[in-house]
Amino acid sequence: STFDEEQMYRPNFHFTPKKGWMNDPNGMFYADGKYHLFYQHFPDGNKWGPMHWGHAVSKDLIKWEELPIAIYPDKDKYIFSGSAVVDTHNTSGLGIGKTAPIVAVYTLHDMTKEKENKIDVEQQDIAFSNDNGFTWQKFEEGNPVIKNPGIRDFRDPKVTWDETHKQWIMVLAAQDRSQFYKSKDLKSWECLSDFGKNIGAHGGVWECPDFFQIKVQWTNETKWVLIQSLNPGGANGGSGTQYFIGDFDGTTFTLDPNFAKRVEQEKAVWIDYGKDNYAGVTWNNVPNADGRRLFIGWMSNWDYAQDVPTNAWRSATTITREIQLIKNGNDYILVSNPVNEINKYVSKSIKKKNLKGKGNLSISEAGKIDLTKAIIDFKLKNLKQDTYTFTLSNDKGESLTFGINNSDHYLFVDRSKSGKNDFSEKFAATITKAALNGNQKEGVFKIILDKTSIEIFYNNGEKVITEIFFTNHPFTSLSVSSKDEIELNNFVINQLNI
Ligand code: FRU
Repeated sequence: STFDEEQMYRPNFHFTPKKGWMNDPNGMFYADGKYHLFYQHFPDGNKWGPMHWGHAVSKDLIKWEELPIAIYPDKDKYIFSGSAVVDTHNTSGLGIGKTAPIVAVYTLHDMTKEKENKIDVEQQDIAFSNDNGFTWQKFEEGNPVIKNPGIRDFRDPKVTWDETHKQWIMVLAAQDRSQFYKSKDLKSWECLSDFGKNIGAHGGVWECPDFFQIKVQWTNETKWVLIQSLNPGGANGGSGTQYFIGDFDGTTFTLDPNFAKRVEQEKAVWIDYGKDNYAGVTWNNVPNADGRRLFIGWMSNWDYAQDVPTNAWRSATTITREIQLIKNGNDYILVSNPVNEINKYVSKSIKKKNLKGKGNLSISEAGKIDLTKAIIDFKLKNLKQDTYTFTLSNDKGESLTFGINNSDHYLFVDRSKSGKNDFSEKFAATITKAALNGNQKEGVFKIILDKTSIEIFYNNGEKVITEIFFTNHPFTSLSVSSKDEIELNNFVINQLNI
């Protein structure tokens, strides 16, 4: 056929491996002017297989350069997800010169034991780098650093320096809970506590946690955030990522009482309500002068990730996001927004101060802006008890709709007519919804569009929806409709040159 998947489906600016399969982002850190990103990777096939750590670097978190594979599996010993820290004071003793060693902590998954139905399939190993993260060596003489304690699903260690209690702290996923460990040297670890057995969503196995302290915006208060992915059982089916806010005394994580109520009411609180943001974690060692908490996720879902209609490669990452904690009354809310660096790629903008009308408003005439690389901002004002439906479409009859239902109070994305979707029964079976807290008077939207993805940041990142789609022809226009009058304020479409 004449269909060119590179042309049609390879994202313009979201990271994809040149070839082969990718899942979770792993081991992100900043060192020597570069943001490093590793990822679960099978370079020799487009489905999940023997897991390697692929590697990419970026100076600005937007444009990525793929590098040679960082860590290879030994036969039947897959390198699963994990993290990496810059060991500035060489606490591990793995450093050999002036450059601080980087220590990667990951799960070694033994496929032989898996086939034999053994329980101790997973253990935590380390590898280290003495050239700022470019080449790696497994710590053969000291692995494992944590043996399997008799839990089948025991994986995805995320290590961070805990400045308050002066210790390395690790969180990992132990089947139906998060488990905390501490260490002085990254090599010997003591189990401290666990969290979550009967709290939050439990529709599947817990995977890929993250745990860090964060300042509450505009206050001097700090809180601890636990990010905890699970599969299945996500907000809109399949893979999903929830979060918890609380306190940590160096040993135990305790939920904030108001947040606990919210978890009870909502069953779980999600970092993203879309179907395509999984296993996301944050960067280590971002310089203090910067101070941002930076997050990236895998933009797919185990429900269909291995069946999406690309062959040369499979999967992309989300846009890099800055995470902040805000306080609204007594409630803590984790907000995510695209990093500012994306704005430097804006090459032209179409601005409309006010757009008003009834029925159906065309807001971007075909051809003026390339909607396969754009950022759209607007505020919907004077919202009625009505549904406001935005439609991205092309003249071949494909469309993707999203918007806000302000009578039943939710945001939605519907990709059921967006192009190819017959590769999986689950891909377009349901409309994605994110419940809103009652009647909305106005709604602020920021939307990032690439060839095959939409990322919606609502009310400055309080609710996020990330979804992928596979059009057969690019979308060329955007319109909005509702029964009542529509008022769009400060509407901007930014063209990205990227
Ligand atoms: C999450 C996950 C992790 C595991 C990795 C294996 O997507 O299942 O728990 O380490 O993928 O590739």
